[in-house]
Amino acid sequence: ASPAAVRIVEVGPRDGLQNEPGTVPLLAKVALIEALAEAGLKDIEAGSFVSPKWVPQMADTIEVLAALKRRPGVRYSVLTPNLKGLEQALAAGIEEVAVFAAASEAFSQKNINCTIAESLERFVPVLDIARANGVAVRGYVSCVLGCPYQGEVPVAKVVEVSQALVAMGCYEVSLGDTIGVGTPGKAKAMAKAVADQIGLQRTALHFHDTYGQALANVLACLDLGIASLDSAVAGLGGCPYAKGASGNLATEDLVYMLDGLGVATGVDLDRLAAAGRAITGALGRPSASKAARALAAK
Ligand code: HMG
Ligand code: MG
Repeated sequence: ASPAAVRIVEVGPRDGLQNEPGTVPLLAKVALIEALAEAGLKDIEAGSFVSPKWVPQMADTIEVLAALKRRPGVRYSVLTPNLKGLEQALAAGIEEVAVFAAASEAFSQKNINCTIAESLERFVPVLDIARANGVAVRGYVSCVLGCPYQGEVPVAKVVEVSQALVAMGCYEVSLGDTIGVGTPGKAKAMAKAVADQIGLQRTALHFHDTYGQALANVLACLDLGIASLDSAVAGLGGCPYAKGASGNLATEDLVYMLDGLGVATGVDLDRLAAAGRAITGALGRPSASKAARALAAK
């Protein structure tokens, strides 16, 4: 049965904007994050401390965090692939960071320039220092339902990498269908295999909507009792190292469905849709969220 309430981790300012072809103005990023917090989102991924040569769109994360009016009760997080990133996060007064591994060797090389095993080794000191400073660490596993370079990804590998992330101290592992190829049966089986090993309360889901399956995948997995879901306002996004991957599951579509199911999210759909209109206006293109388009037409 579905949980009574879920936590939504809003990844639009990070996963959404990291793939933009043009430069997104600093003030548009700040306004987006503030509007998302006003809409009731309590967990917002605000940027990345990664190499600006690899992901130029996130190069101003330090300025975004400095300009942001932080709202009490909201947890702002950033991606930190190594100690250099963590140092920046600590200096910015961030309470939560995320490390990101992959279940596919080929993707790990393209995304973070090392093997899966090397990435896990590199994360250990990141976790140790983060936790010594009272910073929570989330773990990501990419390519859990397929890889743009290697194709099929064994569920056993997803389980193994998830277990390693929990063993080093990640409070939760977000399972990323990076290229949005998953379908509900496979998504549910994969999520169950992971949750059986690391626990339901440590399992989160991160779907991309490339093939229009994201919401169906969420619904199938909700049935397992998973209660932590990633999405991006206006369906922003894609990954710079996953060609052809379209946006994340749209937060508006997710909230609309959960409202209908009577699953509490704490998010105000109208305010959320307004946040989406503002950022898609700034980017100069229509929203990828069907719910947002329907609400705008009302
Ligand atoms: P590398 O080239 O192997 O690392 O990159 P390096 O240690 O040799 O450093 C190279 C240069 O980067 C050096 O600068 C470092 O100082 C700098 P130089 O001396 O050449 O001027 N550098 C940094 N600068 C700022 N912040 C840092 C940092 N680290 C090194 N933290 C590295 C390895 C991991 C750094 C690189 O590959 C990288 O930054 N990758 C990031 C890729 C990324 O952000 N991808 C998108 C996020 S993952 C995703 O979207 C999937 C997810 O959404 C889930 C899903 O959908 O599946 C999470
Ligand atoms: Mg993603």
